[in-house]
Amino acid sequence: MLFPNTLILAVLSAVASAAPTHPKFVTFPVTKHHKHSALVQNHLSARQNSPQPLPVPLSNQETFYSVALSLGTPAQNFNCLLDTGSSDLWVYSVFDTTDCVNNACSFTGQFTAADSSTYTFINEDYQIGYVSGSASGNWSTDTLTVGTATLPDFQFAVAGAAPGAIGVFGVALEGSESVSNAKDEYPNFPVQLKNQGYIDRVAYSLYLNSIDANEGTLLLGGIDEAKFNGDLTVLDLQSSQAFLVNYNSINYNGNNYGGQNQAVLDSGTSYVYIPDEAFDPIAKAVGLGALNPNTTLNYIDCNSQVTLDFDFGATTITVETSQLVIPLGPLLGNNDERCVFGIQSYEYAERNIIFGDVFLRNAYVVFDLEGQQVGIAQVQYSDSSNIQPITGPL
Ligand SMILES: *[C@@H]1O[C@H](CO)[C@@H](O)[C@H](O)[C@H]1NC(C)=O
Ligand SMILES: *[C@@H]1O[C@H](CO)[C@@H](O)[C@H](O)[C@H]1NC(C)=O
Repeated sequence: MLFPNTLILAVLSAVASAAPTHPKFVTFPVTKHHKHSALVQNHLSARQNSPQPLPVPLSNQETFYSVALSLGTPAQNFNCLLDTGSSDLWVYSVFDTTDCVNNACSFTGQFTAADSSTYTFINEDYQIGYVSGSASGNWSTDTLTVGTATLPDFQFAVAGAAPGAIGVFGVALEGSESVSNAKDEYPNFPVQLKNQGYIDRVAYSLYLNSIDANEGTLLLGGIDEAKFNGDLTVLDLQSSQAFLVNYNSINYNGNNYGGQNQAVLDSGTSYVYIPDEAFDPIAKAVGLGALNPNTTLNYIDCNSQVTLDFDFGATTITVETSQLVIPLGPLLGNNDERCVFGIQSYEYAERNIIFGDVFLRNAYVVFDLEGQQVGIAQVQYSDSSNIQPITGPL
């Protein structure tokens, strides 16, 4: 097991004195949504048939996080799902009349290439595999604006067919873009931010905030030291293609379940998917009820107090009851007063182990794409901030 010791970002204060004239970080809100319809249902499994083994399928998305961005000149506005499990930005084309019927795409937006004076067509080869069918469209470039960053000639896809009714803003590793040939790989968003001088290192921090908050933050090129206590624990990525990390076990009431394994940290997935060796005994221990077929989550008594500890060796992330015992009503947009458990068997994720938003809301995670590491700590929910630019390895 590779669990490097925790490193403190000791260099940062020194670097700050030699700081560039503008702060070398870019921050923007990520907005939480409940899906009341099929909105994100099919963002799932996007790379099911893609050549890479990872990133991973998504399913049963009832809660997701979106980012506001704009493309083109004049600017056309979009809201896209923030996904640390994929590497491309794609938006719907104005010509998609099947997936976007009945205003299904009014929230996410639809792109009109002809209305943008800075639009450039690359080719028609954009392709992602879905469980059922595939999504396709045009690779393109145009001016992208996210938060305070404006990137000219940014490569993205304009999809003409893609189920799900939400565009995806993939911010994962360079090299796992949905291109068919390695030679077609391109600098994706985090890389372009560095190339254009907005940040000093291809790295970002994700703060999803508490379950009650409507907004979290994606901070590119920086670490907000007010959002966690103590030091970050640095974990080596176990794949050059995905945020895959080792963990020791999942613990409930002092008992270890499931043993060592590897999980993907994926903001594009709502829940946590764990192997049955861990799920089954935990289900028994916490007294899970039957499966709700509409969510594939199991019922749990709404009064249950359940906290789970995710043991990463040098650190343990505790996931609180508020993440794990989830009222169904708000999730489904109805008056259902029952609750479901935020953890599922990995059978519902094509046997991928995924630590999604249920986990990530309790963690502060720094993704160092350049160093192929993540820094992780128990989150501290806070309105204050103490942002330090990232200029070197974690
Ligand atoms: C892709 O580009 C071609 C050529 O410009 C265009 O005819 C087609 O409508 C575009 N497809 C989508 C989905 O926008
Ligand atoms: C699942 O959803 C369907 C359609 O909305 C509904 O009729 C059914 O009662 C739901 N099942 C449960 C167990 O909530």
